[in-house]
Amino acid sequence: MLTNLTPQPEDKILALMAQYRADPRPNKIDLGVGVYKNAEGLTPVMRSVKDAEHKLWEDQDSKSYVGLAGDPAFSAAMRELIFGESVNVDQVSAVATPGGTGAIRQGFELVKLADAGATVWLSDPTWPNHPSILSHLEMPQAKYRYFDAENCTVDLAGMLEDLAKVKKGDVVLLHGCCHNPTGANLHPSDFDAVIDTLNAAGAIPFVDIAYQGFGDGLDADAAFTRAIAARCPQFLVAASCSKNFGIYRERTGVLFAVSDNTENHDVTQGTMAYLNRQNFSFPPDHGARLVTMILNDDKMRRDWEEELEATRVGMLGLRMQLADALRAETGTDRFNFVGEHRGMFSRLGIPPEAVAKLREDHAIYMVGDSRINIAGLNKYSVPILAKAIAQVI
Ligand code: LMR
Repeated sequence: MLTNLTPQPEDKILALMAQYRADPRPNKIDLGVGVYKNAEGLTPVMRSVKDAEHKLWEDQDSKSYVGLAGDPAFSAAMRELIFGESVNVDQVSAVATPGGTGAIRQGFELVKLADAGATVWLSDPTWPNHPSILSHLEMPQAKYRYFDAENCTVDLAGMLEDLAKVKKGDVVLLHGCCHNPTGANLHPSDFDAVIDTLNAAGAIPFVDIAYQGFGDGLDADAAFTRAIAARCPQFLVAASCSKNFGIYRERTGVLFAVSDNTENHDVTQGTMAYLNRQNFSFPPDHGARLVTMILNDDKMRRDWEEELEATRVGMLGLRMQLADALRAETGTDRFNFVGEHRGMFSRLGIPPEAVAKLREDHAIYMVGDSRINIAGLNKYSVPILAKAIAQVI
């Protein structure tokens, strides 16, 4: 049987991670996978997470199963963090999932069960795992224009034109904030036009929010999701705690399905729990419990928010430094968009040959589409990167 297997397409981000690790050059710079790193190049455990783990170790008296949907207190805390007051609690179904990717996968499966013919529309470009999971599930998918490659901004007119063509009942996947891989985000003044178009087409929004707190702040980053919650009759949201709580390997995420009435709530909630049971049974609890403890405790929450804000401001500072250095090194405004983008990533818009040269000649690793992880930089590597880019373009 196993001899029938054929190689699967490799995930480009994870392949790059392995290539970087295997590179013996001491001065190598990793701008690949979306993992936060501090100025020392480390991915620290956040102070509040340490505190919560300590308390959990002292207080937890059982590791028995929780429930197929996870701990309701986790979903409630995450619902408040993401939606604020913008949803009616009785219309929200939720399950904990293994990471944000687990939430995406469960969301797609929910779509498939509800309407196997629905096409899932993805931004062009998007996180490579979105189309990959859809292909694996053999679900119809399509792309809507999103990125203006010329100016490295959002192509709003193209986006609206494509979204207007979406069929009633199709699903439109939107990045809640900090668009991955481009770093180019909708302006708050664009939200209504996008939502009007989705509603006119009868589309179901599916928000992937994996970087809340990394862009313009916790509330600002949730603003698009909240605007959708206020105006769209039905929608899905997949959220990750990997980045904003720094608990990547704990696999902590949540899927929300929100409906315009309370009638089918029990069926929706039951279906989501059923899907968890089929795929992995009980979701991981450790990370979810830490998040719940932090969000529900004034002192830990304050500390978490402060550390997250310092992380965000640090990344923003690196962005600005890089934009300045690129202006100085290239003698042009070509890369000014780096300072306008938000979140962990920016797509530089340089050709694949330049990306390869940066890797081969300068030991600088970025994804092949020229996406860089800003958090992979520090004040010493910014000038090195800017100089190297000026040399290869
Ligand atoms: C990324 O885009 O680099 C992150 O979301 C990590 C991943 O799983 O790809």
